[in-house]
Amino acid sequence: DTCALLGAPIETGASQRGCLMGPASLRTAGLDEELASLGWEVTDLGDVTIPPQAPMPHANPALHHLAETSAWIAALGARAHEAGQVADLPIFMGGDHSLSAGTVPAMARRAQEAGKPLFVLWLDAHPDLHTLHTSQSGNLHGTPVAYFTGQEGFDAYPPLVVPVDPRNVCMMGIRSVDAAERTRIRDIGIEVHDMRSIDETGVLAPLRAFLARVKAAGGMLHLSFDVDFLEPGIAPAVGTTVPGGATFREAHLIMEELCDSDLVTSLDLVELNPFLDERGKTAKLLCDLTASLFGRRVMDRMTSSSF
Ligand code: ARG
Ligand code: MN
Ligand code: MN
Ligand code: MN
Repeated sequence: DTCALLGAPIETGASQRGCLMGPASLRTAGLDEELASLGWEVTDLGDVTIPPQAPMPHANPALHHLAETSAWIAALGARAHEAGQVADLPIFMGGDHSLSAGTVPAMARRAQEAGKPLFVLWLDAHPDLHTLHTSQSGNLHGTPVAYFTGQEGFDAYPPLVVPVDPRNVCMMGIRSVDAAERTRIRDIGIEVHDMRSIDETGVLAPLRAFLARVKAAGGMLHLSFDVDFLEPGIAPAVGTTVPGGATFREAHLIMEELCDSDLVTSLDLVELNPFLDERGKTAKLLCDLTASLFGRRVMDRMTSSSF
């Protein structure tokens, strides 16, 4: 099987600088060698860039870096779609989470071309469900899910070609939700497993139910992994830490189960801010989690899983 690495060194959507070093940090941690050692044929497509942008005024004066972020979304949309044509499983290395406004619609186009629906598993402390009009922080990494599910209020982003059905989105790890996002989750019917529900059920039961849905629909599955999904103590390299995140084992178990399902067809690794890391530990953890998703095993399993 083939995978491709595409660097998306975008940081204009985040609240602080540093995410532009994310792709370099993941390469330094040895992501490509790790995947190659697991038997994958790996191609590194390099990093996407954008030319300088003139400022773009907006009715919401809080918005930061709208022109640059919109240009990134357009550029990433094109390059991500290409990556999805050359590889079975493209990996988009961020970069802040606004990059998913480029990669997810590109994967929705790819799925449509294959005659399949796209599902999205969103592992994050935040639902990132603001429109350009409801964002109060003005940080555009808080907007991708509202955009790619086709909500109104994205006049300044590139036109959306193929939206993702909000009922095909499953979120886990959520523990910081703004008022406008809370209302929108209910209105559009996204499946949300917040940390309380994870405490109650564990990660496997809701994950298996979602994967069964993807499988029954013959869908493709995009995984969007925000570093702040994890407990800050094990993953300090992120600008938006929220206490009470997923543990080391919960995160690995999700990746291992996703691997067994064989349903994942694209991956975002986002919000890694190497400026905030401690001796590379967050970058290394992201590499190890990706390795679990791509088949790293401690032991062969004697019993077959639910798949
Ligand atoms: N909801 C907050 C905001 O809109 C936080 C968003 C954090 N998003 C992220 N991708 N880290 O500012
Ligand atoms: Mn996020
Ligand atoms: Mn987040
Ligand atoms: Mn601000």
